[in-house]
Amino acid sequence: MKIVFDNVKFQYDSMKRNVLKGISFTIDKPEWISIIGHNGSGKSTLAKILVGLLSPTFGSIYVNDIELNEENLYEIRKHIGIVFQNPDNQFVATSVEDDIAFGLENNLIEREEMIKRVDDVLNLVSMKEFKNEMPSNLSGGQKQRVAIAGILAINPEIYILDEATSMLDPKGREDFLKIVKMLKEEGKTIIMITHDMNEALLTDRCIVLKDGEIIKDAKTIECLNDYELLKSSRLEMPSSLYVYHELKEKNYDNKEVLNALWESALKK
Ligand SMILES: Nc1ncnc2c1ncn2[C@@H]1O[C@H](COP(=O)(O)OP(=O)(O)OP(=O)(O)O)[C@@H](O)[C@H]1O
Ligand SMILES: [Mg+2]
Repeated sequence: MKIVFDNVKFQYDSMKRNVLKGISFTIDKPEWISIIGHNGSGKSTLAKILVGLLSPTFGSIYVNDIELNEENLYEIRKHIGIVFQNPDNQFVATSVEDDIAFGLENNLIEREEMIKRVDDVLNLVSMKEFKNEMPSNLSGGQKQRVAIAGILAINPEIYILDEATSMLDPKGREDFLKIVKMLKEEGKTIIMITHDMNEALLTDRCIVLKDGEIIKDAKTIECLNDYELLKSSRLEMPSSLYVYHELKEKNYDNKEVLNALWESALKK
């Protein structure tokens, strides 16, 4: 699935200024992409535009060379799934199980297959024992797990994960990253919005947003190794790269240690 953003601008009705100021990028192969940027830089807005929840005030979005519009939006949404930043806003049913099943009903999946899938994805996120629970009774991290399960059940071509791990405990995060790696191997495109630079470091490509503009779109290591760029966008380096540069700065010359740090930064 190919996605093109062509000079997309966006303004919320209540605001006088553009929140996105001419965003252009292309995704034309399965990729694991991180979108990073300071609070309010426009990441969530960009994600909502990508799934058609908001429409650009200027510019166009093309999916497989067809311009996204109200008529083809429904069809395209079947291929793009999103986990929202705030897990409270994404549940529609009164039980965890029904909530996941609801997404599948919309995709016309048969009942037996549906029950199996719901169980499978709840297992993947270690939430099976909560399947009869009301989503509103869950903790923040548990809600995030269920939201992730919901999108896994639908199994779209493109996954958009807007800070989907912000409330997960270390084990939950590790499990989540394993799942993402599996999705990547299956040839999915994963767009991960994150404030965690160590997590961003795992991705192949990185888009850096600042005040509604893309200031860099490159291989992740190129973005995250650029101290000035990160600083100007109020971001920091992943810990391994930070230590690497700190040591170099201090003329530390044990090549083995430096190499090990560099390698660990590149390790996926
Ligand atoms: N519903 C809304 N109505 C008006 N303004 C909004 C709305 N949602 C977001 N904004 C504004 O748009 C700008 C971009 O917000 P957005 O949520 O896209 O940022 P973000 O990069 O996702 O930030 P964060 O890292 O805090 O999640 C902010 O200045 C915010 O105040
Ligand atoms: Mg956001």
